[in-house]
Amino acid sequence: MKPNHKIMDIIELHEVDSTNNYCKRHMDEMHSGDVVYTLNQTAGKGTGGKTWLTKPGECLAFSIVLKQTTIEDSTLLPLLWGFVVSSALKEIVDCEIKIKWPNDVLANNRKMCGILCESSCMGGKIDTVCGIGINISQSQKRFEEQSLPNAASIYSVTGKNFEVKQVLPQIIHCWNYWYPQYLKSGLAPFKGDYLRDCVNIGKQVRVIQDSKEVVGIALGIADNGNLICEIDGKHVNIHHGEASIRGLWGYV
Ligand code: BTN
Repeated sequence: MKPNHKIMDIIELHEVDSTNNYCKRHMDEMHSGDVVYTLNQTAGKGTGGKTWLTKPGECLAFSIVLKQTTIEDSTLLPLLWGFVVSSALKEIVDCEIKIKWPNDVLANNRKMCGILCESSCMGGKIDTVCGIGINISQSQKRFEEQSLPNAASIYSVTGKNFEVKQVLPQIIHCWNYWYPQYLKSGLAPFKGDYLRDCVNIGKQVRVIQDSKEVVGIALGIADNGNLICEIDGKHVNIHHGEASIRGLWGYV
């Protein structure tokens, strides 16, 4: 029987290298559903070995520990988290919020949130740490200085400064609503809404794998979370750990 994984303890850290690394280091003492958050992450990690670097106070970085997860979870949890964060942000940020497959959350077509789910297997048991970074207070100028023209923060799109106390509880509320449904029925309960909000569906995409690039059309999502693309007249399932996608002319 799986633990119920509802949010358990919420731990605030003044400063930490990476909330994902903190959870991994403290896995033995942590329970499934525990959340760790900080506004001062000093060595944040991004997908594909990249960094996620922010100044103190700029970004809400948090991670949740999920114990006894499955191989299927490692492909679906990123989609679920992308969906949960986008649903929560829709409630508090007054702009267009979309998802770029598998889990980037976009505000007005720029990336406001990045997600890194990491699973580790010990003695046949898989534990997963889902790490979420939400840009809060950077200005567009700051992103340009960092050579991140496709990034957005809550401040850069709304002109308002939101506090963690407004953002994190909304996300936890959405998680507590959707996660039990995911545990029961997988992708099915949120697939329709995810597809509606996914910017890639029905569009041409560049699929980038091992520095090779092919162009296709994103048709839908398979039940395991893979992106189904039509490439050279054939349906191909793209796994997010193996390939990334971009729009034909840019980021989306
Ligand atoms: C991406 O590259 O889009 C994923 C970025 C993930 C950043 C978050 S911030 C909280 C958690 N801790 C990390 O070190 N990374 C993730």
